[in-house]
Amino acid sequence: MLIKVKRGWELPESAATDERYFHQRRALAKTLAAGPLIAAGAGLGGGLFGAGRSARAAQDPTADLYPVPRNETYTVDRALTEESDAVSYNNFYEFGSNKEIADKAQAMEIRPWTVKIDGLVEEEKTLDIDDLIRSMPLEERVYRFRCVEAWAMTVPWSGFPFAELVKRAAPLSGAKYIRMETLADESVMPGLESSWYPWPYTEGVTIEEATNELSLLVTGLYGKPVPKQNGAPLRLILPWKYGFKSIKSIVRFTFTDERPVSFWEELQRSEYGFWANVNPQVDHPRWSQASERLLSSGERVPTQLFNGYGEYVADMYKGLEEKYGDRLYR
Ligand code: MTE
Repeated sequence: MLIKVKRGWELPESAATDERYFHQRRALAKTLAAGPLIAAGAGLGGGLFGAGRSARAAQDPTADLYPVPRNETYTVDRALTEESDAVSYNNFYEFGSNKEIADKAQAMEIRPWTVKIDGLVEEEKTLDIDDLIRSMPLEERVYRFRCVEAWAMTVPWSGFPFAELVKRAAPLSGAKYIRMETLADESVMPGLESSWYPWPYTEGVTIEEATNELSLLVTGLYGKPVPKQNGAPLRLILPWKYGFKSIKSIVRFTFTDERPVSFWEELQRSEYGFWANVNPQVDHPRWSQASERLLSSGERVPTQLFNGYGEYVADMYKGLEEKYGDRLYR
């Protein structure tokens, strides 16, 4: 994974979104989503911010669902990242290997969109994304999110527990892992021309990880449908693991008895493994993981074991350290 020293987003701490302001924006978003006003507003050509973004949210057929109720169980001790940073500083290699892919990502068609469920399941199925989203218990959670490149953000994701999808899939008893796959559409994804990458982007988790209460299949961000550059219409968030595990724009879930080899693992196994749990004491071979830089404020803070979510996830890895050692954290 490339690391690019980019200082443009290093705004002063005071620029971090104030909670009150954020709630006002949520109320405004709800009012807008309820009426036809923005549907008639500026088109996509309006750019990422302002009217263009509102229009994009309104074009999503599930826009009426947002904002969804917040689950206050998962509180954080940090200021929220500015929305404008979270939607403009992205990793989505299908659209390029730099952080400024948001404009390019708008070319991705996210409707119609189907999600295939196959492998070791009672019955293989193909789900329509709108039927899926509308049938799930949507909630909002504010999570810390830590990229392996040592930047971090704190954002409100909307979505539903991965455990709900596993239930819907009805896996057979032999299924131990889930392999996930991102859309690979050469006509809109210029990154696919880089043939040394093992496209499509894939990721994998154990069924135990998928059904952990923190595992969230994300459909929204900041009280609106999740933007394309952040992985619309469906992405994963595993807040205790490095961000590359949080696969975007998912089209397929395959239940399997074999541990999947993910995109990054296939590319560079010594740097990006299957487990990738956040640990300040296990450095990336090329840089320290002891601290992280917060998007928006630019502040550097200590990295936390399991990104601070140990109470929810540490038990899953008990006894595995002997077998995997540092590989659990890389
Ligand atoms: N998913 C796909 N399909 N392609 C990618 O390049 N990048 C990963 C992850 N999911 C990536 C992906 C990495 S390295 C990170 S840090 C996060 O997405 C970034 O998510 P964000 O852009 O929403 O912050």
